[in-house]
Amino acid sequence: MIVLGIETSCDETAAAIVADDRRILSNVIYSQDDEHKAFGGVVPEIAARAHLDILDGVIRRALAEAGLDIGDLDGIAATTGPGLIGGVIVGAMTAKAIAATRDLPFIAVNHLEGHALTARLTDDVAFPYLLLLVSGGHCQFLAVTGPGNYTLMGGTVDDAVGEAFDKCAKMMGLGFPGGPAVEAAARTGDGKRFAFPRPMKGRAGCDMSFSGLKTAVRQAILDLPGDSLSAADAADIAASFQAAVADVLADRAAHAIAAFDGDHPDGRTLVVAGGVAANAALREKLTGLCALVGFRCVVPPPKLCTDNGAMIAWAGIERLRLGLTDGLDFAPRPRWPLADLSGAAA
Ligand code: KG4
Ligand code: ZN
Repeated sequence: MIVLGIETSCDETAAAIVADDRRILSNVIYSQDDEHKAFGGVVPEIAARAHLDILDGVIRRALAEAGLDIGDLDGIAATTGPGLIGGVIVGAMTAKAIAATRDLPFIAVNHLEGHALTARLTDDVAFPYLLLLVSGGHCQFLAVTGPGNYTLMGGTVDDAVGEAFDKCAKMMGLGFPGGPAVEAAARTGDGKRFAFPRPMKGRAGCDMSFSGLKTAVRQAILDLPGDSLSAADAADIAASFQAAVADVLADRAAHAIAAFDGDHPDGRTLVVAGGVAANAALREKLTGLCALVGFRCVVPPPKLCTDNGAMIAWAGIERLRLGLTDGLDFAPRPRWPLADLSGAAA
């Protein structure tokens, strides 16, 4: 079974072809960084137009790199939400058009399910597992018991962690996209110089909060002498911020692991997914935590943590295998919580 996956929910225009034996035959990602850089963040209208301009070429390249023709495909999967609706519509309409003209099954994929199932593509992880989903718009712990079966255990009460990385990068003038810029700056910084708060650390449950940490970073910048931030100060703030995030996420993960283990003693796996999972400091911290508590820690390679088409193709394969295809009247949606899928694939 071979599926084309299309991803256009944010600022990556991506298409990939994946086989059900877990081979990624191609994985083409066009990041619209240059289009949005001048605005310091993703501009939805610009993103939608860029997707429209380049998606056809990206799909053509994905087919060429895989050495395949559309006739070799068994299904077309596309992100149909959640995300910036203009872009989601472009990807969904393109997928539906190919499916309709070639008489192929169409699979409407929830973007978050794409992230959630990536570890099964890369590491053949079995259900059930505990998922920490950390991206630009989402930050939550979920118990994953099957495709379409997600139970929300806890999440952020304010900002998503990726959003905190992006906002801090902006405050420090580190540019866009923020997460990788903060990680790069932190490499030469002193993570102990600023004693940033650890919001919710030690609290019962596994909810998270990042807006106070963001405010603390703003205050630290204001408290420094001079009008502009030196590279050395920016590096120290970035390293201290990253250390606080890793510390808090490890504490929250320890609570989530204890709760998950009680409900699913046969699980014993933590999967970390979403763009922020590309962060090496975070990967290291969570791997260390898992080693201590006897859990397997699975974090996909960075290129499959940030948005890509392979994760959408794979989620499409998981659904297609269960006979879960969608009608061409499936409506793209800007909001679509993962927990809402539960029961759909039961
Ligand atoms: O999953 P993703 O590519 O898109 C969404 O679905 O949101 O995640 C993007 C988020 C952004 O906030 C970005 O700054 C963050 O992931 N990110 C990182 C790193 N790479 C991407 N955050 C921290 N460290 C990184 N290396
Ligand atoms: Zn994403």
